[in-house]
Amino acid sequence: MKAAVGSAIEVRGLCKRVADALGELTILDNIAFSVEQGQSIAITGASGSGKSTLLGLLAGLDTPTEGSVTLLGQSLFDLDEDGRAALRAKSLGFVFQSFQLLPNLTALENVMLPLELSGLEAAGPAKRMLEQVGLAQRLHHYPSTLSGGEQQRVSLARAFVQKPALLFADEPTGSLDEATGARVIEMLFSLYQSLGTTLVLVTHDPVLAARCARQLVLQGGRLVSS
Ligand SMILES: Nc1ncnc2c1ncn2[C@@H]1O[C@H](COP(=O)(O)OP(=O)(O)OP(=O)(O)O)[C@@H](O)[C@H]1O
Ligand SMILES: [Mg+2]
Repeated sequence: MKAAVGSAIEVRGLCKRVADALGELTILDNIAFSVEQGQSIAITGASGSGKSTLLGLLAGLDTPTEGSVTLLGQSLFDLDEDGRAALRAKSLGFVFQSFQLLPNLTALENVMLPLELSGLEAAGPAKRMLEQVGLAQRLHHYPSTLSGGEQQRVSLARAFVQKPALLFADEPTGSLDEATGARVIEMLFSLYQSLGTTLVLVTHDPVLAARCARQLVLQGGRLVSS
């Protein structure tokens, strides 16, 4: 069944300001945009332009000074922290530049974790997802015994194993060499397409950004094109 097309993400008047030695620093200034379900969008901009801060707010990992983020019809900052954590567990996947796997868990256990936290059957789906990213022979390896590309494929498997409605990726190839990064990106887009996820991808790489249906450009905390 085809889902009705609607906004997966609605951002309105989003501002993030922090106190600093000189008074107040504006990190994000009046950001507004929306993303349709199933769409892919790249967020680009120079280092320090506010990309990671924006992604953290979209995922409800940080709170804004002003403005709103609505994910899948739910206004994020009308929820308390527990409510946001529950929404994240059910509907969001993350891929980070630095992988962020748990070092004391094997590849399989890392991918099982989000399913276990949601009280779902974990071993079978986690194993199948690792097979899908080409790691059938590495299920019982700990992160420190995997290559960078393998670790990022484990984190892709972990991000997609719950078939999340939304996937956020922050410089997912930033720690990888070009060829390995390209392979990880092929997998990311293939999983995105096959699962009908909405994808928000932060990247410095213009070639990668061009693979997304839309690009947002941040400059000094402001959106300069969308
Ligand atoms: N908690 C904070 N307190 C003070 N300044 C902050 C805080 N968080 C972020 N900043 C500043 O806000 C700006 C935006 O940071 P952010 O991490 O969002 O940039 P970015 O676009 O992701 O950069 P990069 O491409 O280097 O990852 C930076 O100048 C950073 O120093
Ligand atoms: Mg960043």
